[in-house]
Amino acid sequence: MKLLGGLIAARGVAIAVALLWSTSAWAADQDRLDQIDFPVRTVTVVVPFARGGPTDTVARLIAGEMAKTLGQPIEVENVLGAGGTLAATRVAHATPDGHTLIVGHMGTHGSAAALYPKLGYRPDKDFEPVALLTEMPVLLLARKDFPPKDMTEFEAFVKAHTDNINVAHAGFGSVSYASCLLLDRLLGVDPTAVPFNGTGPALQALVEGQVDYMCDQIVNAVPALRQGTIKAYVIASSERDPAVPQVPTASEAGLPRFRVAAWTGLFAPRGTPEPIVAKLNAAVSQALDQSDLRLRLTDLGGIIPRADQRLPAGLARLVHDEIARWDDVARGSVP
Ligand code: MLT
Repeated sequence: MKLLGGLIAARGVAIAVALLWSTSAWAADQDRLDQIDFPVRTVTVVVPFARGGPTDTVARLIAGEMAKTLGQPIEVENVLGAGGTLAATRVAHATPDGHTLIVGHMGTHGSAAALYPKLGYRPDKDFEPVALLTEMPVLLLARKDFPPKDMTEFEAFVKAHTDNINVAHAGFGSVSYASCLLLDRLLGVDPTAVPFNGTGPALQALVEGQVDYMCDQIVNAVPALRQGTIKAYVIASSERDPAVPQVPTASEAGLPRFRVAAWTGLFAPRGTPEPIVAKLNAAVSQALDQSDLRLRLTDLGGIIPRADQRLPAGLARLVHDEIARWDDVARGSVP
């Protein structure tokens, strides 16, 4: 007993020392960041899709919290067109002083690079990755009266009626476009793709029955699923999501290779000084640790990255891997 008590006490001291060390390391780091003279005016965060969609929702939630930490207003600007690539081109060429940023994602910084023959930016070279913001599983959604009852019926129905089926997406190269392209490849179908400026308006068209189905990030879909104004066949993931526990995984639905791990990240133009990137990264991380924000995002099915996953280097790796993955899909093979 005594020995055990001694060990516990020694462990307690070790933990206290470690905590003290990490608290003072954090304080030193915070001091360093506080001394950086940034931002000196309003920061613009460009959202490359329409208001009300998943990218916009994530951007507005996080920007609101970041503004409090950074002590300057943050304006969210929706710049629309070409699957988010016009906005990304603009930010890639903005002044690299940290005052113009973009919320990019698996589309603008992944599938678009693979799908567009010529882009006005290089997703892996023309930006300083700042921080991973969220991961968002993708769901296959349909208008509520779309006839198939499950994935097996869906496949048969889409094969039989391909020419009369309309699939909504947020522009060539976007997450919704790339995800349903992967689905097309897996099922061997080629329905008509209908572009919108974001999945906010695309989802509205689905609710109104103007289109038949779409692939969308969970954060956008959960409210409509809860209201029963649309339905979901599958979550393109290996695990069910607590926000929509009734929706089967890709394997459960018989389509194990339908996997899309969509994500959003904050990017600055290349050449933005490292101390500014570090200060922005810390502000994102503080925002993601804020409990109301965590509740809002997780209630909508968003996955908040752990602290060690939010670092710029991790986001750079993700962009690199994503471009390679979608390159395969664009060429017709399925990774
Ligand atoms: C996409 O499909 O790339 C996005 O979900 C678009 C959006 O945020 O509206």
